[in-house]
Amino acid sequence: MYEEVDFDRRRYLGIALINPDAKGAALITGASSGIGAIYVDRLANRGYDLILVARNRERLDALAARLVDDTGRSVKAIVADLNDNSDLARIEQLLRIDERITMLVNNAGIGVPLPFLDSDIERVERMINLNVIALTRLTRAVASALVNRGGGTIINIASVAAIAPEVLNGVYGATKAFVLAFSLALDKEFASQKIRVQVVLLGATATDFWDAAGTPLEGIPSRMVMKAGDMVDAAIAGLDRGELVTIPSLPDFSDWDAYEAARQNMIPKLSLSSPASRYGVPPARPHGRHPPEAALSSTGER
Ligand SMILES: NC(=O)c1ccc[n+]([C@@H]2O[C@H](COP(=O)([O-])OP(=O)(O)OC[C@H]3O[C@@H](n4cnc5c(N)ncnc54)[C@H](OP(=O)(O)O)[C@@H]3O)[C@@H](O)[C@H]2O)c1
Repeated sequence: MYEEVDFDRRRYLGIALINPDAKGAALITGASSGIGAIYVDRLANRGYDLILVARNRERLDALAARLVDDTGRSVKAIVADLNDNSDLARIEQLLRIDERITMLVNNAGIGVPLPFLDSDIERVERMINLNVIALTRLTRAVASALVNRGGGTIINIASVAAIAPEVLNGVYGATKAFVLAFSLALDKEFASQKIRVQVVLLGATATDFWDAAGTPLEGIPSRMVMKAGDMVDAAIAGLDRGELVTIPSLPDFSDWDAYEAARQNMIPKLSLSSPASRYGVPPARPHGRHPPEAALSSTGER
């Protein structure tokens, strides 16, 4: 399936490609529709060149041609299935070798929001592969390259299901909880590397996602559904504000701060040498052995 097409108006017009103000290129997965297509538009207007990745060639080509006409940016459209190992490997290689790339938007994702017992396990596996494995491999590929390029930005599109897995059924929330935990860990690890990480926890957003998942958007109260353009504009504003976690819908961000403070408060207490007293386990003796174990080992029994 893999295929690359360059849409480069400046090249066609013979205008020099060297621009001292260039922001570099952003690679956006799932760029052919929905949230990814809006990121493409907004980032082009911010001066990024674009590398679009998705499977639907017609949609990618139409979007790329429009962008070149509207913004004059250099656009590469790559038809690739991120669930295909060889396509994925080629995108990883591009992230490693294309010196222009300064941003990765890990947006491609699908949902299988059925109850676990009703879901097709092959579809669930494809969702885990796309939402988790592809995102992880692409991040690994770009991160080393960004270190060598002096920095860059990784935006991971998660979901509010990361912290509210009860809202949807099944495995989807677990894949997005992975994206959140992964992003928090990366942010700590990259603190000294000039790599910005942002994770976006979006609620229901009006895209094809719901139809593709088999759960029509019409079933969700409209007061809970955000327009994709508004969602992306808020997420980009969150990026500009320096947020690690952006939750476009959350009216009062101190709610997240309180949640995060409770988590941070627990961290020093999550790994201790003794079980909590509520479990009624006798205190450990030196070397971590409990009295009955010590008695057994002194008689040679195990
Ligand atoms: N919409 C919501 O309510 C909502 C809520 C929370 C989180 N999210 C997350 O937002 C992200 C974007 O979703 P969306 O709402 O914009 O849905 P969407 O309109 O269905 O877009 C999904 C994009 O991913 C691409 N894609 C799907 N499978 C792919 C594959 N195997 N390889 C490469 N590209 C693939 C699709 O393009 P092709 O079909 O051309 O490949 C499409 O461009 C997802 O990660 C989703 O989990 C969405």
